[in-house]
Amino acid sequence: MKNRVVRIRTGTETALVTGADGTIGSQIVFLLIKLGFNVCALSGSAAKMRTVIADWSPEEKARVKVFQINFAEPLRMRTYLEQLRERFEQFDVVVLAAGTMLAPDGPVHGYEHHAWVNVIAQAAVLRAVEEKMADDARIVCLSSVCAHLALSSDLADPELLHSQRHGVYEAYARSKLHLAVYCEQLAKEWGSGGGSSSTRASSTSSSPMLAATPPSTARRIVSVHPGVVAGGLYRHTNVLTRWLSDRAANFLRSPVMAATFVIHTALRDDAVSGGYYEDRERVRLQPEFRQPRRALVFKQIEKAVDDLFAPAQPSS
Ligand SMILES: NC(=O)c1ccc[n+]([C@@H]2O[C@H](COP(=O)([O-])OP(=O)(O)OC[C@H]3O[C@@H](n4cnc5c(N)ncnc54)[C@H](OP(=O)(O)O)[C@@H]3O)[C@@H](O)[C@H]2O)c1
Repeated sequence: MKNRVVRIRTGTETALVTGADGTIGSQIVFLLIKLGFNVCALSGSAAKMRTVIADWSPEEKARVKVFQINFAEPLRMRTYLEQLRERFEQFDVVVLAAGTMLAPDGPVHGYEHHAWVNVIAQAAVLRAVEEKMADDARIVCLSSVCAHLALSSDLADPELLHSQRHGVYEAYARSKLHLAVYCEQLAKEWGSGGGSSSTRASSTSSSPMLAATPPSTARRIVSVHPGVVAGGLYRHTNVLTRWLSDRAANFLRSPVMAATFVIHTALRDDAVSGGYYEDRERVRLQPEFRQPRRALVFKQIEKAVDDLFAPAQPSS
């Protein structure tokens, strides 16, 4: 960590943040800038991001580069990601904070909306910049405590990446579980590769659940529940829920506190790669969801990303 602190202080570390204009993501960007990072901010709306940074000092503004990206548009997204990769030399920290809940929108590229935006598109961001990631890069994905609620009976069913069989709320919860599983399985690949670029060989290991790579200074990926925070995530909930969450905002976690938890989990030296964290503690997710089925979900997500970046043009 000591070397890293020196690098951050000299302003040579770059962080990539998705969902940068969101309630939590915008605070993550601001904290990273305060720490001394340069930030590549992927936001759903450039106009919203302009509002976010409006009050920042010129020095703070100079540290952020904003890119508007819609993860629900695969073709454009792929092009943006490929261009983005060329514009940066290295990414030292990656925060995948983009996410949508109870989205009324239909499937994307043949996949269920939450599965695509919350999982496959985030995995695609990682894939796009993987070659540019520092050997000791820290990656953190915003999962959710809702992941505990995903129905575990048929979680590895490939159909579930394509359908809302159990309803839209379960689709959100499942996407957050799948994102945490994706991190866990990717950590295994990176662990076997000694922190260098993965060979993308499918994992067939039957090692115990959450048997992730040990703490090291090499590349590390974790997932985290940021806490319950009132804000944009609840935009598609019913009027009563929105009203209640606005009223309860003062009793819930503040966006800046959530952002602090996320960055702490990303940078702490003792985090276990592949782990899922709640309030600084590593927590087991869905113990009955066994390793072979987790590996299967990982393969399905990887295949969706392979298809996206395949030479043939995906349909938007
Ligand atoms: N808030 C909570 O209580 C809570 C609890 C557990 C986990 N989380 C997770 O924490 C993350 C941040 O949540 P939040 O509360 O900050 O929510 P938020 O304010 O709604 O922020 C979500 C971010 O994701 C972006 N996004 C959504 N769909 C997108 C798309 N199709 N293309 C590009 N960007 C897209 C949004 O961009 P636009 O706004 O421009 O569309 C926004 O920047 C999410 O992943 C969420 O699942 C939040």
